[in-house]
Amino acid sequence: MRRSLRQLGAADLSGRRVLVRVDYNVPLEDGHVRDSTRLVASYPTLDYLRERRARPVLLSHLGRPDGVPDPRYSLQPVAHALAEQGGYEVRFAAPADSEAALGASSDLREGEILLLENTRFLPGETENDEALSQRFARLGDLFVNDAFGTTHRAHASTVGVARWLKPAVAGLLIERELAALDRLRGATRSPFVVALGGAKIGDKIGLLEQFVSRADRILVGGAMANTFLAARGINMADSLIEGAALDTAASLLRRAGGRIELPVDLIVSPGPDAEGEARTVDVESVPPGTMALDIGPETARRYRGAVLDASTLFWNGPMGLFEKETFAAGTDALVAAAAEATVRGAFTVIGGGDSAAAVTRAGLADSVSHVSTGGGAALEYLVEGSLPGIEALDEA
Ligand code: 3PG
Repeated sequence: MRRSLRQLGAADLSGRRVLVRVDYNVPLEDGHVRDSTRLVASYPTLDYLRERRARPVLLSHLGRPDGVPDPRYSLQPVAHALAEQGGYEVRFAAPADSEAALGASSDLREGEILLLENTRFLPGETENDEALSQRFARLGDLFVNDAFGTTHRAHASTVGVARWLKPAVAGLLIERELAALDRLRGATRSPFVVALGGAKIGDKIGLLEQFVSRADRILVGGAMANTFLAARGINMADSLIEGAALDTAASLLRRAGGRIELPVDLIVSPGPDAEGEARTVDVESVPPGTMALDIGPETARRYRGAVLDASTLFWNGPMGLFEKETFAAGTDALVAAAAEATVRGAFTVIGGGDSAAAVTRAGLADSVSHVSTGGGAALEYLVEGSLPGIEALDEA
């Protein structure tokens, strides 16, 4: 157990500068935040601090600018969104480790929030540089890590700073995320159904290995299903296949003894842009010159049934190229089924990244038990049971 923000007393917070690492790595479009899920997820911690008269100083990265300032990855649009959508009084300072930032943190008035420029504009951030960690530590009187989506990265603003700024505690978002994931790691109620999609088996081998012995049913969709189907000897024509993972897929299928379920039909098309030529085919009859881009209606019906029967559901990765309407039906069916299963009393967790975006797009994020704000972080925690950014915090 790590120490949490809730365990600090009023005197620890009142009037004090609280350096909060948030994960505002959000999609931008034409200088605006396209999806503010990660902003909204940080509000409980911001509100908790402001209600206790603390002065929040926020650090975040955005994109991968690789140690040099790049206007395309400035957090300035995020500052606007926090003010416009969140209703906060937001100040902004750059660079994040500068005297200007330090001055702004000292001048911060009660009720205001200071957002600092992208931590990845600074050399040493991703190398967890000690001198940079110390410069970050000057910006607050205590440290709160609430950047769940970045807790699998050992960087200066997530891990290094926690060594130099004490107390270093977990924020309310991290607390909520870990509570949901710990429930999945523990004794889950059966039937335990896992739905996995997305592109790469390689990224999810640890997860598959773990769930193959624990889950009652593993429903596979998306490009990942192509590789499993090819490992079964099925001709997938031009579909995306991960050649290096074919042996692993075959071995998992052998060990799973039928618990890994694969599509029986598919939506295929000559390419992602050839939406007009999309059609449904039996999994054994993928025509030459086409690729699988979604699970078919019969598969969606079966997967829906499995999800509705679940008492526990973990889902990571879309069932198809859901960004395009023509290839979204499989993913949408699973989103709807997850929401229905939740109403029936199932504990349902959607892993971050694309599947979280699909749930948000359908307006059903509040209709499942938990939608994680972390893709890679959630998967690593489920497999390893620990994350560098959390290990760095104080023990309770
Ligand atoms: C994420 O979006 O997964 C996190 O913000 C981490 O970003 P990264 O993969 O660039 O480290």
